[in-house]
Amino acid sequence: MSVVDTLRDIKERVESELNTLDGSASLENLRVKVLGKKGELTALLKGMGQLAPEERPKVGAQINEVRQWLTARMDEAQARIQAAEREAALKRETIDVTEPRPLPKVGSEHPITLVMNELIECFTGLGFDVMEGPEVELDHYNFELMNLPKNHPARDAQDTFYMDDNIVLRTHTSPMQARAMLTRKPPIRIICPGRVYRADEVDATHSPVFHQMEGLVVDEHVKMSDLRGTLEVFAKKLYGEDVTTRFRPSFFPFTEPSAEVDLTCVNCHGKGCRICKGTGWIEVLGSGMVNPKVLEMCGIDSSKYSGFAFGIGLERIAMQRYGIRDMRLLYEGDARLFGQLR
Ligand code: PHE
Repeated sequence: MSVVDTLRDIKERVESELNTLDGSASLENLRVKVLGKKGELTALLKGMGQLAPEERPKVGAQINEVRQWLTARMDEAQARIQAAEREAALKRETIDVTEPRPLPKVGSEHPITLVMNELIECFTGLGFDVMEGPEVELDHYNFELMNLPKNHPARDAQDTFYMDDNIVLRTHTSPMQARAMLTRKPPIRIICPGRVYRADEVDATHSPVFHQMEGLVVDEHVKMSDLRGTLEVFAKKLYGEDVTTRFRPSFFPFTEPSAEVDLTCVNCHGKGCRICKGTGWIEVLGSGMVNPKVLEMCGIDSSKYSGFAFGIGLERIAMQRYGIRDMRLLYEGDARLFGQLR
């Protein structure tokens, strides 16, 4: 085939291929095949050595003309294809602003916070003020004013972290009783939620850091029946009308008489189950009538005033409410667990 024929053949082929291209990649392939270093036109140029010397300039010019023509055609095609591709991409990437977006993942409050807020709502509804106080507490408030002088054996049950001989991490929220009595005048009705500390090993039911909510009422004529009535309302608000309280005699140096208070097990409604260990009751707080000695130490006339106090453990309530079997889960902060609580 003569060079002229080959050139015509190439032009025709390229012309028809350009019309059926399906994207810039196939255009690039065509460009390389025809105009590339190992392409058909280059091959023709290389073959010119076999031509008679006088033919060479003419053929060379023809080849170059075709090269220019092909380049122009391909550039045109490229512009066309790119425009079409951009158009298609724009269509494809159009954002439908009316489409509902997926809801963002919303966290939830910690189970302890949920329970704490619920108790605060319950007691503020009964006329209690919320007071907060230091977790790093003076031995004086944490123990002495709670009628636990140095070397008192009941201190053993509340071993804690000592900063020095006089500064401790509070072992209960009870020092807030003293702080309230020393700064307020009766009638006093306060609750004090917060973190407390004891030198305990971590296990499924113990943690060296946990939460309590103290309650204190001091007024004239405050009686044990007021304590019972208040806790009965608390129990029913928290768990429902069929829940009641059970008082068991107990001992705390700062209350006299003292009682541990159980609530009907909400899981089995008192029948007895694994959670309440078959007793039908769940122990949730310690309580009692404020020891007159404590009133006096805190500057309150015990011949005129009396009071009751209670300390509620929040972990146990949260664990029971949300079916959390192991206390450690409360402090691990696993979003898969807490995300379900709302
Ligand atoms: N402070 C006691 C405890 O931590 C609970 C308590 C509070 C008992 C108030 C009686 C009155 O165990």
